[in-house]
Amino acid sequence: MPVVIAPSILAADFARLAEAAAAVEGAADWLHVDVMDNHFVPNLTLGLPVVEALLKATPIPLDCHLMIDDPDRWAPPYAEAGVASVTFHVEAAADATRLARALRARGARAGAALKPGTPLEPYEDLLPELDLLLLMTVEPGFGGQEFRTAVLPKLRAARKLFDASGLDVWLQVDGGINGDTIVAAAEAGATAFVAGSAVYGADDPAAAIEALRAQAVGATLQR
Ligand code: DX5
Ligand code: ZN
Repeated sequence: MPVVIAPSILAADFARLAEAAAAVEGAADWLHVDVMDNHFVPNLTLGLPVVEALLKATPIPLDCHLMIDDPDRWAPPYAEAGVASVTFHVEAAADATRLARALRARGARAGAALKPGTPLEPYEDLLPELDLLLLMTVEPGFGGQEFRTAVLPKLRAARKLFDASGLDVWLQVDGGINGDTIVAAAEAGATAFVAGSAVYGADDPAAAIEALRAQAVGATLQR
């Protein structure tokens, strides 16, 4: 399985999102868009109208991470709009299986996210319905936080499950991913890496992506 690097525009200039996308075109596999509703998380960012504008502004596939209440109702329109990956939080979903199916039926990759403290076991039956499992490596809500090494055992457990079952699911990490932490995440089995500050805080965002990719690929080959 190849490695996906998804820069998070949460760390970019919100008045210049099209430029932020253009800065990583050709380097980023997906563009990670953090939707926060000030209810599921304390922060508030952007919603479907801005995502629709971004879809028109960039050819990079969008990876929408919905940190919102009631995703059962609000997530499918993102898939309908043409978002490539739509990830909802299991802690917020009333019927995760049904929602994942609705997202796939609308042509998107179905993603489910777990907060650092949310165990994986209760969601094992959900995995076959998913194209992406996001294990948060910080408490969702804000960029620039420190990577939580306590999530590594859960990552290894998910990797083990996917390898044993042959399920073709991206295992994504999000939060505190940078040159110091990406190897540990890749060694634990992650295949898709979100990076906000490490990319948009760098002088050359595209070069930062390529450096992260080289580290992730190196660690994945060792595994
Ligand atoms: C946090 C968001 C992340 C955030 C990551 O809730 O889900 O996507 O942008 O930012 P960094 O890479 O700076 O930790
Ligand atoms: Zn995110």
